[in-house]
Amino acid sequence: MADPVPAETSTSTGTDPGTLTLPPFAVETPCFVILEDAVLHNLRQTAHGAGGIARLMPHIKTHRASWLIETMLAEGVRAFKAATAAEVEIAAAAGAPYVVWAYPTVNSLAIARVARAARSHPHVRIAAMVDSQQGLRAWQDELAGDAAPNLRLRLDLDPGLGRTGVAIGPRAWELAKRINDARLFDGWHAYDGHIQNPDRALRSARVTELAERLRDFVAGGRDQGLDGDLIAAGSYSFDLWPADIARWVSPGSWTYSSAQHDVELADIGWRIGGYVLATVLSVREGTATLDAGSKAISPDIPLADRFRGPGPIRLMKEEHVVVATDRVTVGQQVALIPRHGCTAAYLYDRALVRLRDGSWEYRPQLGASR
Ligand SMILES: Cc1ncc(COP(=O)(O)O)c(C=O)c1O
Repeated sequence: MADPVPAETSTSTGTDPGTLTLPPFAVETPCFVILEDAVLHNLRQTAHGAGGIARLMPHIKTHRASWLIETMLAEGVRAFKAATAAEVEIAAAAGAPYVVWAYPTVNSLAIARVARAARSHPHVRIAAMVDSQQGLRAWQDELAGDAAPNLRLRLDLDPGLGRTGVAIGPRAWELAKRINDARLFDGWHAYDGHIQNPDRALRSARVTELAERLRDFVAGGRDQGLDGDLIAAGSYSFDLWPADIARWVSPGSWTYSSAQHDVELADIGWRIGGYVLATVLSVREGTATLDAGSKAISPDIPLADRFRGPGPIRLMKEEHVVVATDRVTVGQQVALIPRHGCTAAYLYDRALVRLRDGSWEYRPQLGASR
C-alpha cells in the first residue's frame, strides 16, 4: 500500500487543458479523446496504490470499452466491476476471469440477462449483488429454471452512502445466511462513495474506522459459517483500505482521472486520460462559443464545474457552451477536461484514441447503450 501522506497540502490547480495532446488532423467535434499512455500510466499508479494489480478490480462503467478491458487484462488485471448487464457481457466476452455486477436489482429481466451471460461464458466467474429478500428470491427463481454454476451472489452492505445495501449488522448476516443456505454466497461488498474528503488524513481516518467495523462484522459472519471476502473502495479510498479486510479494491474513475481528481487527489499522480475535444464556433468580447453543450458533457455537475477548459463556463445549452476567454480563435480545437469523466464518456459510442505508439484511431465503446 502507498505510504500515508499527512494532511492534504496540495495546492494543485490541476492540469492545464492547453497542455494535452490534441489530434494533429481535422476531427469532427464534439469528440471524446482517449490518451492510451495516460490510461496505462494511471493503471500502474492505481495498482501501486492498491498494493499490487492482483488486488485491483477496476470498475468498467467509466469507459465501457472492450478494448480497454483487453488492455487491462494484458497488463495483469484479473477482475472487473460492472454496473449494467451490458458491461457484464463485454467483460465476460473479453475473457475477464472474474466479473462482479455491483448493482443489486430485483428486475427479473436484467437478472436473466446476466445469468445468460454467465451460462455463455462458463469459465468466467460472475458475482451479482443482493440487498433484499426479494432480490435473492428473484435470483433463485432465475437459477431454478436453468442453473449457472459459475454465478454466485454477494451481500451488498451500506457503509454509509445510503444508496444500496443492507446496514452493517445482524440483518445483513441473516440475508447472507439465506444466500449461503442456497449455496450461492460469494462474499461481501461495500462501496464507500460517501468518503470523498479532499483532505487525505481525514479520508484515511474515515476509511480506518469503517474498516474496523467491517473487520468485526466479517469475523462475526465467519463465526456463523459465512466464508467470503470483501470488495470495497472507489478512487478516493482504494489506497487507504487495509488489505487484511478488503481483498479487492474497485476504483473506476481513475481511468481518465478528471478535473476533480487532478486537484483533490493530485498526490496520486494520475494523468488526464480522456477529454472532450471541441471547436470554437464564434468569439465576442470576452467570451467564446464552443460546440460542446450538455449533449457533449453531461450536466450532472453544477454548471460552473462541468469541465476545465479555456475559461470559466458562463452558459451551457444542448449543443453550445459559452466560456469567458479572449485567448481562443474561431476554428481552433480545444480540450475540455470533464469533472465527471464517466458520464462524459458515456455520451460517445466511439472515441478517438491516441495509441501508445503515437498513432490515432477511432475505437468503439458502449456509450449510452444499456
Ligand atoms: C459500486 C461502485 N463501486 C465502485 C465505484 C468506483 O468509484 P470511483 O468512481 O470513485 O472510482 C462506483 C462509482 O460510482 C460504484 O458505484
